[in-house]
Parts: sequence; C-alpha cells; structure tokens
Amino acid sequence: MLVSRELPMNIQHDVSLKPYNTFGIDVFAHAFVGVTTHEELDDTLFHVCGFERSFVLGGGSNVLFTRNFDGLVVHLALRGIRVYSEDDEFVTIESSAGERWDDLVQYCVERNWGGIENLSLIPGTVGAAPVQNIGAYGVELQDTIVCVQGVMRQTGDQRIFTREQCRFGYRDSVFKRELRDQCIVTSIRLRLRKNPRAEHLSVRYGAIAAELGQKLLSECTIRDVSEAVRRIRRSKLPNPAELGNAGSFFKNPEVTHEVAERIKREFPAMPLFPALKDAPLVKLPAGWLIEQCGWKGKRIGNTGAHIQQALVLVNYGGASGNEVFACAQAIQESVQVRFGVRLEMEVNIV
Ligand code: EPU
Repeated sequence: MLVSRELPMNIQHDVSLKPYNTFGIDVFAHAFVGVTTHEELDDTLFHVCGFERSFVLGGGSNVLFTRNFDGLVVHLALRGIRVYSEDDEFVTIESSAGERWDDLVQYCVERNWGGIENLSLIPGTVGAAPVQNIGAYGVELQDTIVCVQGVMRQTGDQRIFTREQCRFGYRDSVFKRELRDQCIVTSIRLRLRKNPRAEHLSVRYGAIAAELGQKLLSECTIRDVSEAVRRIRRSKLPNPAELGNAGSFFKNPEVTHEVAERIKREFPAMPLFPALKDAPLVKLPAGWLIEQCGWKGKRIGNTGAHIQQALVLVNYGGASGNEVFACAQAIQESVQVRFGVRLEMEVNIV
C-alpha cells in the first residue's frame, strides 16, 4: 500500500539526461528524481500519479531517447550486495537494482563464485539485467537467477518473482511484456557456485576458447574467463564512455529452419549459430546480415554502424535520438529487402 509521507521529494526540473544514457543523447526530463532508499521509492511512487508520464531509468544502457521527456524520470540508485544464504557448494547473493552490473560480476569473480563471469563488462545496472535477460558468450542471466524482487508502480506492493514467473527468453522476460511499465525491479538473487572447477566453466563459445588460447582448459579459473571476455569485448565493442552506444541495437532474428536454409543456399558464407536440439527456430547473426548490406563502419551524419561490430549503432557526438532511430530504420529496411528478414530493435525507444 502506498502511504503518503512528509518527506519532501527531491525533484529537480529540466535535467539533461545526457549523463544518464550510454548513447549520450542530450534530451531533457521535465522532472527528475534520484531514488537511493526504499522509503524514497515509496514516496516517489506516491507522487508519480501527479505526473502524466513517468519512466524508471537504471544505467540507461538499453535506451534511446528520441525527444525531451515531459514527465517524471525516476533514477533508481538502490545500492547494496549481500550474501542471502550459503552452503559448502553454493552461495546465494542478493544485489540491489542500482548496483553497476559489472561491479557485481567483479565482486563475485574476486570471491571465486562462478556463474556470471561470462557476463563481464556488460554495461548497465543490476535492475535492468533481468528485464532483458542479459546474455553473452554462451551464458544468460536466467542460468543463475533465483528470483527477482520488485515493487508494483500502481500500488507500491512488493512482489517476488521466481525464475519461472520471470518467463525468461532470448533478451526477453515478463518485465518486458505483461508487466511492462508496471513493475520496478528493486533487487535480484543469484545462486553461484563456490570455487568452481574447470568443468563448471562455460567456454564452449568459440571466441572464448580462442582467447584462452594455449592455456589448458583444466587449469582455467573464472578469473581467466572473465579476463578473456573483457579482452574480447574491448577489442570488438565500443566503450560507451568513449563512443556513445547501447550495445547490440537489434536482436539476432529467430527464423524457421526453412528460411535459414533458403538464405544459407543463397549466401553460403553466412555463419550460423549452433542449432539448439529440437528448437523450431534458428538464430541468424544480425551483425553479419547488416554487414552484407554495406552498413559496417558506414557513417551518416553523427551516427552509424560500428566499424568492428555492425550490430552496434554509435553516436559519434551530438547525434539526436531521431538521427540514430532513422539510421536503425534504414538498416532494418536494407536487411528486409536483401534477405527478407525483419530485424527487431533490442533497445527501448523512448
Ligand atoms: N558478425 C559479422 N559482422 C559483424 C558482426 C558480427 O559478420 O559486424 C558475425 C560474427 O563473425 C559471428 C556472428 O556474426 O559469426 C555473431 O557475432 P558475435 O559473436 O559478435 O555476436 P552477436 O550475435 O553479434 C551477441 C549478443 C551480444 C553478445 C555477443 C557475444 C545479441 C543481440 N547480441 O552478439 O550482446 O555480447 O553475442 O555473446 O544477442 C548486447 O546484447 O548488447 C550484446 C552486446
């Protein structure tokens, strides 16, 4: 239940959102509030109804602002990581939504708790991680998550969602669909393996195996894997602190085997992700499709597809959200015409 509080809300007006989105798009929020405690969140929810629109922002790493926001932006900065429970083999940790995701990864790698080391260096906050079920190098958040805790925006009620209730899919969850704009993630719990042995590591993804090189797999630690992932990401993906971007702009499209075979016949060089057993759909590499359409490294005004990874759109400086969005639409159009495949945007357009 929402209870009115005496606390004066620390609302600021006409705040630039440039420091709050990794694309570095300079738009303004009519009203802005930073939330660092559960009491402040409760207070904020009570006041949110005074605004026609509201938007909850975490690390801003998966959003493209295309206009000034005429409502209230709630910047969620709840902090804290703690051990929730443990036994000899596993530890369950609870992290608040406002922690930086990569800080959490490093915290676990330092303690030799395995399970999320392949997700090293992903930008953004912990709260955003379950919303899109972040994934990289053969691992997804859903592999270690126990539950997600959140607050319902309308009522202020706290809820716990088990892994099953989160309905995770490829870059997908219930928080993106049925509960879109309804639930604010406040913390997550992860179950991690203490002192994992080499056989527990996930190193099947070709790029990791190649990066680990000569090192005997049986001698690899989660620190080795984390460092390998960091090196791969640094070599292929632009650092948002240097070049504005939101990671992969599109999802890898999932198509039927017939469509994949048709394209493969015409373009035998297309790399294919290993098909999951009995899966009705196959993923196509969107970066490759975009590159074939001539977009890799192509710049239009202040935006374009990155020179090393065509799936990532970048802001060379001063791009507007609409400029980036127009470029994304042009890319979608090219891929549709050349391959007959529709690319779905992964980034939230606001
Ligand atoms: N490729 C190209 N040209 C490109 C980019 C990729 O030909 O410009 C080819 C690669 O050679 C490879 C295939 O496409 O054969 C797949 O590329 P890569 O391994 O780089 O991965 P991705 O599918 O492009 C996905 C995730 C990334 C994640 C990597 C590594 C999505 C939408 N993206 O990218 O996640 O880091 O795998 O696991 O699933 C993100 O979501 O923001 C993100 C960066």
